[in-house]
Amino acid sequence: SLVEIADGAGETVHLTETDGCRTCTFGREPSEQGRLMRNICNLECRPDDIFILASPKSGTHWTWEIISMMINGRAETIPKPKIDNMLENQPHDSLAAIPNPRVLNSHLSIDWLPRQMLEKQCRIVFILRNPKDMAVSFYNHVKGIKSYHYQGQWKDFFPFILKGEMEYGSWFTYVREWERFIHDNPNYPIHLMFYEQLIKDYELELRRLATFLGLDLDSGLLAEIADKCRFHNMQKDKALPAELQKTLIKQNFSFFRKGKIGDWKNWFTVAQSEEFDRVYEENMKASSLTFQYN
Ligand code: A3P
Repeated sequence: SLVEIADGAGETVHLTETDGCRTCTFGREPSEQGRLMRNICNLECRPDDIFILASPKSGTHWTWEIISMMINGRAETIPKPKIDNMLENQPHDSLAAIPNPRVLNSHLSIDWLPRQMLEKQCRIVFILRNPKDMAVSFYNHVKGIKSYHYQGQWKDFFPFILKGEMEYGSWFTYVREWERFIHDNPNYPIHLMFYEQLIKDYELELRRLATFLGLDLDSGLLAEIADKCRFHNMQKDKALPAELQKTLIKQNFSFFRKGKIGDWKNWFTVAQSEEFDRVYEENMKASSLTFQYN
């Protein structure tokens, strides 16, 4: 069922529930993505698959690049984008053609992920980011990618964040679902990683990640991977090919936009921040996760 509502800027926003993620697509055609998503539950998994799961704009590209280099045992830029290994963007046969161990990724909620992922106890790396920074990053994403056709301003976008009417649904619901999963499955191989911690304690976090993945990497290689995956290096090395850049994104946008902690302070008004805190409190009162917003 596709419903249309007017956003704050008078634009039409499509909301769809049929495609699996309580999606608000901000005007983008959900058809192709929806077609692929219907089948994801049945994807065949391998015991050595690694799944990177995160709400959008939480550091998925970064983590995918790091893990892929770790798996390759080389600090060399991966010559393809992480979207090539993304469940909701690739047909099954493309995913099946990826050699072991696959580093897959998705923003889908737990009910829409492959059933075999849990049955085969595939390793999961789950990334979390301060939702205020995620929100600002998401706004810039929607503004910067041409196919969204989004004309609204930050003040128009902000209410959608609070209501959880986002592409892939509510951040609060998504995070709470996974927190519940971790609580109910204490022995499941899932590794929680915070974007902020990754920035602050980069090499230590990489070591913890390698240990979780069962990889014995020497510290020289880890340092090289860390360096190769620093924001400015990825911004340069992982830039989209010129042709794609022209068709896909607006001139002043990059998927590697700022890469900072606390950019939300440049966007949220005091009133918005207080309102967000209230909604956060309401939604997360039973959660043991805490985010320091500074
Ligand atoms: P900003 O928009 O705040 O800059 P995702 O990959 O899940 O879509 O997340 C995108 C966010 O991660 C963007 O945030 C992007 O700049 C940031 N990011 C990507 N690579 C990074 C890196 N190497 N270091 C720090 N942040 C990075």
